[in-house]
Amino acid sequence: SGAFTFDPGFTSTASCESKITYIDGDEGVLLYRGYPIDQLAENSNFIEVAYLLLKGELPSDQELVDFDRSITMHTMVHEQLKNFYNGFRRDAHPMAIMVGVVGALSAFYHDSTDINDPKQRLIASHRMIAKMPTIAAMAYKYSIGQAFVFPRNDLDYTSNFMRMCFAVQPEEYEVNPVLSSALDKIFILHMDHEQNASTSTVRLAGSSGANPFACIAAGIASLWGPAHGGANEAALNMLEEIGHVDNIPEFIARAKDKSDPFRLMGFGHRVYKNYDPRAKVMRKACHEVLDALGVQEDPLLEVAMELERIALEDPYFVEKKLYPNIDFYSGITLRALGFPTEMFTVLFALARTVGWIAQWSEMVEDPNQKIGRPRQIYTGAAQRDYVDINKR
Ligand code: CMC
Repeated sequence: SGAFTFDPGFTSTASCESKITYIDGDEGVLLYRGYPIDQLAENSNFIEVAYLLLKGELPSDQELVDFDRSITMHTMVHEQLKNFYNGFRRDAHPMAIMVGVVGALSAFYHDSTDINDPKQRLIASHRMIAKMPTIAAMAYKYSIGQAFVFPRNDLDYTSNFMRMCFAVQPEEYEVNPVLSSALDKIFILHMDHEQNASTSTVRLAGSSGANPFACIAAGIASLWGPAHGGANEAALNMLEEIGHVDNIPEFIARAKDKSDPFRLMGFGHRVYKNYDPRAKVMRKACHEVLDALGVQEDPLLEVAMELERIALEDPYFVEKKLYPNIDFYSGITLRALGFPTEMFTVLFALARTVGWIAQWSEMVEDPNQKIGRPRQIYTGAAQRDYVDINKR
């Protein structure tokens, strides 16, 4: 029967009730548990915002210490998990490795798979938040052929991650606090964004009662695509392809040409019809990082700023309400921090893991939770009889 609401792309269907993140796309507002994203990015830190997203309130001193300790305690991965990396080619995309290795966690932690037990759910969520930087850094180290670096418990979440990526043992590596705090800010911006494709994927996968680690792996798969988390990588590649401000008009013309599949990467958003509030903080972080590194002029930043200026004045972009999104400036910033392009979406996945887990927990704890099961409008053949192969 065709008696269902047809809503391809879910542009007008709410799939759940949630108390975690609020977006007003017309006004360009993003709140985590009621707090504006720019206030959190400027004043808070990864662990505190993770606590807020998971629990709903900012922690007291003691609550923060306890939560931080629990996350730190779980940063190591099982020795045997390392074998998974060896199974990949060195030129494997790190997101491919992430999908595989995070999914494989479901085979390691049998004491955190009973999703009806609140204690097990708690350990599963702390494990995922704690191990994601270790797993991501290992994917990076594997791709460049360097030895894995162990996590260090005296460092904060983001500094520890940077060290696991950039230290070349046995030499010691000093984390630059300006850079690690910029990356921490970038992580906060990426932590949650209500019912986007990857978060909806985690919820849908989890709605059947599936293993939580496997659900997060499903979220990573969805995030990988260029229309979602892969856009930061695509945006930087695009800026490199443009190369010089003189070439901008040609690319703007291509983006407007409907017979050309090219789109301005890092522009436009399903929900924001105004400046993405995350893009504002990101643009500032980008300048902070370049200043801290003493970069006087970055040719890609020059192209990006000019491209933004031209697009924001062009009637096509104005009428369609296309503004820079978070990915427009993140690529330049992450590259300046020393990450290769292939790692950008991995960093996004690392941060979004917190949101995925908060949303998954909210769903599992909901007494009215049902398995997600969309209906369809069938447009195929009407019933017909099987025809023997000799008679076709
Ligand atoms: N460049 C040129 N035209 C565009 C762009 C763009 N970046 N984005 C949208 N449009 C046009 C599109 O062609 C369409 O025109 P028309 O109405 O004439 O057919 C109109 O604007 C509406 O676009 P849509 O594709 O129907 O909108 P959507 O909500 O389905 O898509 C989007 C949202 C983010 C996929 C899209 O804007 C896009 O492809 N942007 C580039 C990729 C990107 O930067 N993605 C990152 C999103 S933010 C981070 C994240 O969530 O992961």
